[in-house]
Amino acid sequence: MEFTINGKAVEVACDTRTSLLDLLREQLGLSGTKKGCNQGACGACTVLVDGERINSCLALAVQYQGRDITTVEGLSGEGGLHPLQQAFVAHDGFQCGYCTPGQLCSAVGMMAEARRGMPSVVSADLCASSVVLDHDELRERMSGNLCRCGAYNGIADAISETFE
Ligand code: FES
Repeated sequence: MEFTINGKAVEVACDTRTSLLDLLREQLGLSGTKKGCNQGACGACTVLVDGERINSCLALAVQYQGRDITTVEGLSGEGGLHPLQQAFVAHDGFQCGYCTPGQLCSAVGMMAEARRGMPSVVSADLCASSVVLDHDELRERMSGNLCRCGAYNGIADAISETFE
């Protein structure tokens, strides 16, 4: 199977029953994407496919052949932190950090959804355009990503600061 993962062409053989999450983590060594519930309930496994967020634990890798997949490792582009990652640090948008890769990918995808009609490219340039979501809407749109440490206020503040 062939994919574009974090901007690079990848060719890999795997069983047709392999989830996209297991392909990323176990075969490609992209362990930034986390396995939490493994049944679509927690959002820890969120990645972007062609800019749209999905739960990779629920996706068979074979479904996404030829697609452009971005994991947390690909968010920063040229090695530095993505502005959203910097904002998570500044606002204490995590405690243990296990949910953070999924939160980051979900937030990037969520803002692309909020800007429907605008390019959903994944890059720091995404932060250049302004969309204002009120706190309740932002929390609702991010409700698929759980944080057992309860860092929700910091997460919301980081997202708001980055994308406003
Ligand atoms: Fe995929 Fe929880 S591990 S939603």
